[in-house]
Amino acid sequence: MADTHPDFLQRPLLDGVVPAEQVARTEKRWLAVMVGMLIVMMAIVVLTGVTNAIHPPSNVETIDPTTLHLDGEFAESNLGTAQELDGSLTARLIAEQYAFVPECVKVAVDTPVKFRLTSTDVVHGFLLPATNVNTMVVPGFVAEVRTRFTRPGIYRMPCNEFCGNGHHGMWSRVEVVPKEQFHALAPTERLSCVQQ
Ligand code: CUA
Repeated sequence: MADTHPDFLQRPLLDGVVPAEQVARTEKRWLAVMVGMLIVMMAIVVLTGVTNAIHPPSNVETIDPTTLHLDGEFAESNLGTAQELDGSLTARLIAEQYAFVPECVKVAVDTPVKFRLTSTDVVHGFLLPATNVNTMVVPGFVAEVRTRFTRPGIYRMPCNEFCGNGHHGMWSRVEVVPKEQFHALAPTERLSCVQQ
């Protein structure tokens, strides 16, 4: 009788047990599905990167979080929006428990904008909905994101990384105004929109 074959593997299978070849075939099919899904996801990453400029943040610049407020790029007088010689804008902000400083920045529409942020305490997140801006703000590093706003309006920016008990209240905003309106502002008014 076959079911008493001395080699255990040669005995017929019990009812309901699937032969090894059939298992292998099913596994290969699932493997093909998984590889297909990976290819689709990789293609989406590449496509959104190329067409919408959505990239993983890659700026590696270090800064001492204990002294950044004393002088240099993130001293209080340098925070907010500054106009570069080429007409582009640079907005510098500090993230700290539980606020962004300045709490509101003003930029012009249809203008290249570079956000530069750093943290004085823990990891925060900087996200502007419906844009390509989404970065972690890690103490000790300067996060840099570039964008261009196509529509004026108020972009609320929630802290996007749990940073402590007050995380849910860490909201700020970016005010995107028409170009003419922005250029009509005095340099001090362009810095931020905190007073309004
Ligand atoms: Cu800062 Cu959450």
